[in-house]
Amino acid sequence: MPTLECRKLLQTFGMEWPEASQEEISMRRTLIAGNWKMNGSKAEARSLVEDLMRRQREVGSERPDCDLLICPPFVFLELVGRLIEGSEIALGAQDCHPAEAGAHTGDISAGMLADIGCSYVIVGHSERRQDHGEGDALVQAKAAAALAAGLTPIVCVGETREERDAGHTLDVIERQVRDSLPANCGSRVVVAYEPVWAIGSGLSATPADVAEVHAAIRGVLRDLSGKEAADATRILYGGSVKPGNAAELLALEEVDGALVGGASLKAEDFWAIASASPRRTQA
Ligand code: 13P
Repeated sequence: MPTLECRKLLQTFGMEWPEASQEEISMRRTLIAGNWKMNGSKAEARSLVEDLMRRQREVGSERPDCDLLICPPFVFLELVGRLIEGSEIALGAQDCHPAEAGAHTGDISAGMLADIGCSYVIVGHSERRQDHGEGDALVQAKAAAALAAGLTPIVCVGETREERDAGHTLDVIERQVRDSLPANCGSRVVVAYEPVWAIGSGLSATPADVAEVHAAIRGVLRDLSGKEAADATRILYGGSVKPGNAAELLALEEVDGALVGGASLKAEDFWAIASASPRRTQA
């Protein structure tokens, strides 16, 4: 039986779904990821990264208690990779092709991304699902290719406005998580919940809605990979995350970080979001 049904069934009997303990939550280090999308020039990429690095140097050991990740467009990966060398900022790409190599004009393989210094790759972003007609099976194949190349895939899921208004949010999310994650991925993936209607709209989902969907995703992960792997998997929220709402969203128990679009293009805002991370791990 799908996990969400199990959860509802338990609730009808007045029983609670087992939540992760504080110890399990603290296994998940907060990840703040910047998805630059198709923005910026070489000069802008350089000054944004240099600004972030300067902020990191200035705060010294008082730096935010989170992992930082930058996902620039493909053409700036090498430049950004060079600039962040030796820092604790990680490099990620925004997409990859599922094949290792071959006749795929314009595409980039996960192996190439690993070769150039990436450790993460975003797959299944709703903009790719919409602009390029990508479905769950392709997203799953991309995520599997990323794992095979030693990258951590950030697998994006999210409902449209119409799906939310029709009351289908949890069903859509459950299907996307089940069909987009590679089999046996354990905790080697990151899941990003990005409601499509919240992306770039200035309208973030409410903390209550985010908490509900993240708990549902954790439930599906438990069903797919077992409790231990599920409790170690990071689930990020994305969709109009800004300095003004970051603390409230990141404080939610099931929110293990943020996938930030527009606000990641301003060093001041991205840094403010990272600085809003709650302390979860021992230094
Ligand atoms: P915004 O933060 O601009 O809403 O974008 C979110 C997003 O799509 C990150 O992948």
